[in-house]
Amino acid sequence: MPVTIATPAQLNSSPTLLVGVFSDFVLPPGTPAAVIFQLKALRRLGDLAGKSGELHVVYPSGPGPRRLILAGLGDRKDYSWAELRKAAGAALKKAQGLKVRELGLWVESFLAARLDPDEAVRTLSITAEMALYQYREFKPARRPDEKPVPLRLRLHTRRASAGREAAWGEAVAAGANYTRTLGNRPGNRLFPQSLAQEARALARRYPRLSVRIWQKAELARAGFGALLAVGAGSAHPPVLIELNYRGGRAGQAPVALVGKGITFDSGGLSLKPSAKMDEMRFDMCGAAAVLGTIRAAAQTRLPLNLYGVVAAAENLPSGSAYRPGDILTSLSGQTIEVLNTDAEGRLVLADALTHAARRKPACIIDLATLTGAALVSLGTFASARLGNDERLGRELQAAGERTGERLWPLPLWDEYRDLLKSDVADMANIAPKPVAGTIMGGAFLERFVGGVPWVHLDIAGTANGDGGPVLAKGATGVGVHLLMEWLRERALHR
Ligand code: BES
Ligand code: MN
Ligand code: ZN
Repeated sequence: MPVTIATPAQLNSSPTLLVGVFSDFVLPPGTPAAVIFQLKALRRLGDLAGKSGELHVVYPSGPGPRRLILAGLGDRKDYSWAELRKAAGAALKKAQGLKVRELGLWVESFLAARLDPDEAVRTLSITAEMALYQYREFKPARRPDEKPVPLRLRLHTRRASAGREAAWGEAVAAGANYTRTLGNRPGNRLFPQSLAQEARALARRYPRLSVRIWQKAELARAGFGALLAVGAGSAHPPVLIELNYRGGRAGQAPVALVGKGITFDSGGLSLKPSAKMDEMRFDMCGAAAVLGTIRAAAQTRLPLNLYGVVAAAENLPSGSAYRPGDILTSLSGQTIEVLNTDAEGRLVLADALTHAARRKPACIIDLATLTGAALVSLGTFASARLGNDERLGRELQAAGERTGERLWPLPLWDEYRDLLKSDVADMANIAPKPVAGTIMGGAFLERFVGGVPWVHLDIAGTANGDGGPVLAKGATGVGVHLLMEWLRERALHR
């Protein structure tokens, strides 16, 4: 979606104009008289109250825009980032439905005292781009009237920083939408090798980005015993993907981003039930978020070093699959008793985290659709955060509040750690009882981070959804906006 910046004086020249309306009807200075006239008329009729969720399309006669989209923003005192996203997202979808080609957006009408205006411009451009996304790779428009009309967005504002902030927002949204497309691809269209191919393509596209792919034979020589075991049942071999983005000083320790890339999780020999098993195509959304974030970082020329590690495998039952009871030797040298082959994410991450930690990064953030229990405990409204560094965790959580990709903490106490004891190996991959599932996943991963400051994000509840005011059904791209917002702040202080 191309975004351009225009002045408030040009508001009358946008054929379709989107205006946010608070319930107090106070409009920012610079709002065209024709628009104010329309609003007053609607208010007198009782057709417009400026309530949250309200959306109107009106067709003024006379000078100014031919079409007005009015989005209610509710009470000014209750206004929030969530409200802004909801209103802007619904309005953009409406405009798309109306096949609007050029949409003017009156930025100042969406601002309120408590919201940082630069962040508002970023949020508006991210929300717009993410609201228009549709996954149509295997259902392309066949008739001309099905073809989505490309929408150009004109941000009307007097803010001099708007161009810069909008460009940032576009890059973040493009990264997140890329993550969504990878997430939405089904198991027969995206294999571990496909993720490697994607990483290679990114490295070709961005000069400061390089890639290294570890194939099966190399993984075996190096001792990635846990990753190899998980991938052993599939005809599509596992891979480890390393991405290096050099945006910062040469000596600066990178931020490591580690992603779970199970391209399909059947459970393996500990086979999952059939109901909703199709959703296990989303089990690589952590990996996709790592790729999308690195893409967005490279696109915005983020001035930090990033190190991405993706462990990709397909978890299938077969004559070559790993079994319950198997004892694996992980890359770290620690042995693991496999009590359930469906707890595979932690196994591939064990080796990925060990590998990442050996590079001595400043910190490690991992993203994984790790446990169904994350959905049980937090629903689709927050990702679980765990880790060994509370400060880092809180920083990320604060970024989550601003971006709407909320995080909520869970503890890692010794009582939990003790539950992973095994009689025959250094640890088991599950606890003896199905309790505290998300915490047990985190407690397992902790043994592989080698003391590096680390945050684990369990995105099992948030990586895909039923759709809402902003996002379409399917993969959400969770993690990209969150990490980019956190990285943006981090870059300012370094
Ligand atoms: N990929 C799943 C977790 C998952 C479940 C994500 C539902 C999204 C929705 C993971 O590999 C898994 O199967 N976890 C098991 C762990 C259990 C065997 C300890 C789970 O959550 O049931
Ligand atoms: Mn599983
Ligand atoms: Zn899984």
